[in-house]
Amino acid sequence: MDAGAAATPSIAEYLQQHERKSLLRFITCGSVDDGKSTLIGRLLHDSKRLLDDQLVTLKSDSRRFGTQNGEIDFALLVDGLAAEREQGITIDVAYRFFDTAQRKFIVADCPGHEQYTRNMATGASTADLAIVLVDACKGLLTQTRRHSYIVSLLGIRHVILAVNKMDLVDYDQVVFERIAEEYRQLARRFGIASVACLPLSALQGDNVMAASSRMPWYRGENLLRLLETIDVSRPEGKRPFRLPVQWVNRPNQNFRGFSGLVASGNIRVGDEVIVLPSATRTRLAGVINLQGEADGAGEGEAITVILADEVDVSRGDVIAAADHPPEVADQFAAHVLWMADAPMLPGRGYWLKIGSQTVGAQVTEIKHRIDVNSQKLLAAKRINLNEVAYGNLMLDHAIAFETYADNRTLGGFILIDRQSNATVGCGTIDFALRRATNIHWHQLEIGRQARAAIKGQTPSCLWFTGLSGSGKSTIANLVDRRLHAMGYHTYILDGDNVRHGLNKDLGFTDEDRVENIRRVAEVAKLMVDAGLIVLVSFISPFRDERRMARELFDDNEFLEVYVDTPLALCEQRDPKGLYRRARAGEIPNFTGISSPYEPPEHADIHLPTAELTTEQSVDRVISRLLGRDSHS
Ligand code: ADX
Repeated sequence: MDAGAAATPSIAEYLQQHERKSLLRFITCGSVDDGKSTLIGRLLHDSKRLLDDQLVTLKSDSRRFGTQNGEIDFALLVDGLAAEREQGITIDVAYRFFDTAQRKFIVADCPGHEQYTRNMATGASTADLAIVLVDACKGLLTQTRRHSYIVSLLGIRHVILAVNKMDLVDYDQVVFERIAEEYRQLARRFGIASVACLPLSALQGDNVMAASSRMPWYRGENLLRLLETIDVSRPEGKRPFRLPVQWVNRPNQNFRGFSGLVASGNIRVGDEVIVLPSATRTRLAGVINLQGEADGAGEGEAITVILADEVDVSRGDVIAAADHPPEVADQFAAHVLWMADAPMLPGRGYWLKIGSQTVGAQVTEIKHRIDVNSQKLLAAKRINLNEVAYGNLMLDHAIAFETYADNRTLGGFILIDRQSNATVGCGTIDFALRRATNIHWHQLEIGRQARAAIKGQTPSCLWFTGLSGSGKSTIANLVDRRLHAMGYHTYILDGDNVRHGLNKDLGFTDEDRVENIRRVAEVAKLMVDAGLIVLVSFISPFRDERRMARELFDDNEFLEVYVDTPLALCEQRDPKGLYRRARAGEIPNFTGISSPYEPPEHADIHLPTAELTTEQSVDRVISRLLGRDSHS
């Protein structure tokens, strides 16, 4: 890691020094052992980006850790982490900087291991070009196809296919041509516009920086020359101005600026702009860039703008050219690449980050997943690690966006797990779905408070969660009886019952349980709106969906009741004989046996039933529910 970093002290300094040369951002990808790290190491070494002391370290490291019998092992330059050295694989995206007289380069070295597709996608999202490495002995592999698919999905239009390790196939032209032709066909299918194929040996240096005397049959350019000369400029056209607002800058009462990085286009002071999604129009009163006040700004600049009118602008809004505003929508058709071990389940809530905006999102429907090997479209109900799927996405509120093809900043997104905050997926917007835009929320004339007042109660949702046979329904029924006797208006939604009607079409896979809870939570919300105290009694095994249910309600309206009965006790009671059948393998996906139960971490009411009598449990729920009224 530190090798490249020390040669080029910081990205900012580096970029300043070399401002005049054009910049090429590229990624390297391929399978493990294809020789990526060796190739980059050699580029850094041969373009003289190494300081002498690094060379000394490299030489001694090569003797200690190298795989080249004491010769310089260029991969060690790149595989900086100790763990990688020991495992012999690259496990993180390593950014390297180097330059030649013609160009400067930022290269993202992307790991080839199957489970690290996430890093590959991270590197690819900012690259103009991809070097896809293939081992001449092995030809195209699943990983080659997967990475090439991601390359095309993320809009990289230039690929250099580097057929490496030609030394191991006696520099045979036939081997090279066969692989190159197969790849060209693949690239055509993926819609990758420009492919240059080149035979090389990263280890021996053939065709890396100079033509190889061992492959006179190859008449093309060497790798470095290709990197220096490939034209990756996007047709300038007239991309309209877009500024995703990252920060509202308000140091005092007299100044209000909006800061961000110009995602596309140019702007001049005095131009008319529109703020989205609110669609407020105003003019640009001033621009401040890194140097100070300016007349305007262009793509890629970090600026602060001042608007002519007092308009409401928040982080995540987009300030755009008024004559060419981006669209605003809350539902999309999109491609998603899933990068987490736990699968993506339709209906589950994630955070979606796009531009400078973060918003709640869920995939509402998976249309199909795409087999990266065959390009076949396959039916799917979930998206597993490393799979790509196409489907519909719904956001909590509308955002300004563009299709990924038009604008990578406003059309590319990542999905974030709401519990762990880890990035779990990435995707691209294909187009907006218009289905919901003509539906408006009707404000009912009689509000929920009026409905509640007439019943003389505070509407609430008591959400009972726990294993099958834990006693949820028993306790909920007793609570219901007592409340009813006291004159409260209540209703019970019970898993077994609701599954006979509204949710009759759902089984017990993870995705069906997510949908089960989504529907019942929505029903419970309607009942609370109607002024009722509703008792929901579902296993509801996943934290994500219980949180989703909670978020549908106002604070204080929702109480999570954890009916905490140990599995062994539930199994011993086994009122419906289901545990016995599950143990015998007759019921698949049985909670606690072959399907997980995620216990609540912060339940509002905890009922350790092994230590409480049923009456005590009921008392606890009632006093918490009614006690809440007397406190508020
Ligand atoms: S949930 O997980 O989706 O919330 P729900 O509460 O609706 O489950 O339904 C659970 C009830 O369905 C259990 O009480 C049990 O009677 C029955 N059942 C049938 N098959 C299963 C299964 N595989 N896992 C759990 N419960 C099951």
